[in-house]
Amino acid sequence: MVYLQETVTPLLAWYDGHARVLPWREHPSPYRVWVSEIMLQQTRVEAVKPYFERFIGELPSIRELAEAPEDRLLKLWEGLGYYNRVRNMQKAARILVEEYGGEMPADYDAILSLPGIGSYTAGAIASIAFGMSRPAVDGNVLRVLSRLEKNYEDILKQSVRRKFEQEVQEIIPKGRAGDFNQSLIELGALVCVPNGAPRCGECPLEKLCGAHAEGVELELPKKTPPAKRKIEDRTVLVLVSDNKAALRKRPAKGLLAGLYELPNLEGRLDREEVLAFVKEQGLSPIRIQELPAAKHIFSHIEWHMAGYAVKVEEPEPEQFAEHPGRREKDGIFFVEKRQMEETFSIPAAFSAYTRYFRERF
Ligand code: ADE
Repeated sequence: MVYLQETVTPLLAWYDGHARVLPWREHPSPYRVWVSEIMLQQTRVEAVKPYFERFIGELPSIRELAEAPEDRLLKLWEGLGYYNRVRNMQKAARILVEEYGGEMPADYDAILSLPGIGSYTAGAIASIAFGMSRPAVDGNVLRVLSRLEKNYEDILKQSVRRKFEQEVQEIIPKGRAGDFNQSLIELGALVCVPNGAPRCGECPLEKLCGAHAEGVELELPKKTPPAKRKIEDRTVLVLVSDNKAALRKRPAKGLLAGLYELPNLEGRLDREEVLAFVKEQGLSPIRIQELPAAKHIFSHIEWHMAGYAVKVEEPEPEQFAEHPGRREKDGIFFVEKRQMEETFSIPAAFSAYTRYFRERF
C-alpha cells in the first residue's frame, strides 16, 4: 500500500491547475454544495449544470425549498430521476427551518442526521462549505483509492467504504479540506476514469499507484455484480380528447411514488383489451392507434412498453383536473394539453409517449 500522505501535495497542485470551473464551485455555500451533491449522485456533471442553475434560481434558499409546493419541486427535478432525492431535500429543509433558523448548521453530526444525507454528502458539505476536516468518499474516490492501493476489496461493502473514509480522514490537509476532497473526486472524474483506459500518463499520482505499477488498473475497483433487473411488460395509453389528455397519480409508495403518469396497465394488451379498459373508466372511445414499443430502464426494473393512442369523446367534468379533490383521488383525470407540460412532472419513463400529446389523431 502506498503511504497515502504522499499523495496530498501532488494532488492539490494538480487540482489547482486542472479543476473544472463548475457553477457550484463558485460561492460554495452549504445550500449550493448540498443541492449540487444531491444532483450529482446519479447524474453526470454536464447534465447537472442547467438543472443546478434553474433550481438555485427558483429556490435560492433553504427556506424557499422548504416552502415550495410539491408539484413545483418535482417539475424542477423532472429529467433528473430518482425523485426521492428532492423529496428528502425538502424534508431536510423543513427540519432546518424549524430547528436551525433555515440555515445548515456547521455541525457534521447534525448534517449527517438529515434525511437523504449520508456520509458522503455530509462530508462534502462539511469540507467544501465549512472547511471542516471530513472525508467525502464517493464512487470516484473509491476507484482512485482502490487503484492507488491495489486493493481488491469490494467497494460496494459499507466496511470497505468506511476504511477508505478513515484513511482519507487522516491525511486531509489543514485549511484545504474541501479542495483535497474535490481533488480526489476530480481525479476520478477526469483521469482515473471508469469504463475504459484511465489516463495514467496525465496522473499526478502515477508514480505512487500500486495498480499502475503492475498494469492492473483495469481490474480495479472490484464490485460485486448487481442483481439482474426484473423485466415488466406494460401497456401505456395516450388517452386524448380534442384538447385534453389523461393522467393518473401513482400510489404514494413504491416505484415513482406519488408522481403523475400516463395511464398504463400490466402486461401487453391488444386493441380489444385496451378498448375494454377505456370503457370501464366511463369513457367513450372514438378510435385507437398502436404506437411504437419503448423501453425504460430503472435501477432494478426494466419496463418493456407497448403503447396505444386512444381518442375519446369529451370526458365528464368530474374527470377534469380542476374538479374539487379530483387529482388526489385514484384514477384517471383529464388536463388541458397546453397546461400539462407546464404544471405536471411526468417521469422520463413515459417520454417515448408524452410527445404524442402534441399530435392530432
Ligand atoms: N461529483 C460529485 N461531487 C462533485 C463535485 N463536488 N465536483 C465535481 N464532480 C462531482
